[in-house]
Amino acid sequence: MAIRNMVYEGDPLLRKTSREVTAFDGKLATLLDDMFETMVQQSGVGLAAVQVGILRRAVVIDVGEGKIELVNPTILKTSGSQVGSEGCLSLPGQFGIVERPDAVTVRAQDRNGEWFELTGTGLLARALCHEIDHLDGIVFIDHATRMVQPGETPPPNKRRVTAHVKKVKSE
Ligand code: CO
Repeated sequence: MAIRNMVYEGDPLLRKTSREVTAFDGKLATLLDDMFETMVQQSGVGLAAVQVGILRRAVVIDVGEGKIELVNPTILKTSGSQVGSEGCLSLPGQFGIVERPDAVTVRAQDRNGEWFELTGTGLLARALCHEIDHLDGIVFIDHATRMVQPGETPPPNKRRVTAHVKKVKSE
């Protein structure tokens, strides 16, 4: 595993649409491992491949409930809403107030190409939306109702996290 170089705000890559992953091979496994290591090193809770310069639809998340890997994820269903502060490893030191759904169900493939569904609430729902946005060149400041000012204590996020992973029949 290796720490990858990060892509930061201002780099046009961050605004590009990532391509579908089609090869479930050792290269994808290495990318996911490296993304996870890079995220943990920077104390992040999520990272999209574009943030390490790879325009592929792959995401890693760990909100404290274990590692989640999502390849070619799409959001199937959302419900409720939550308002809280959000940041991004590609925009260090910046935080904004962002409204997100309170529950999100995603369909994705794992590193072997197996399809599954996952439902997250609270912080996990927020992370799922944030990371999947990255795959379409969307950054949290696009959704922020306002930015948190220096010295301001940001409103606490919902720490409630639940994840339900459900394997579905692959196509
Ligand atoms: Co981000």
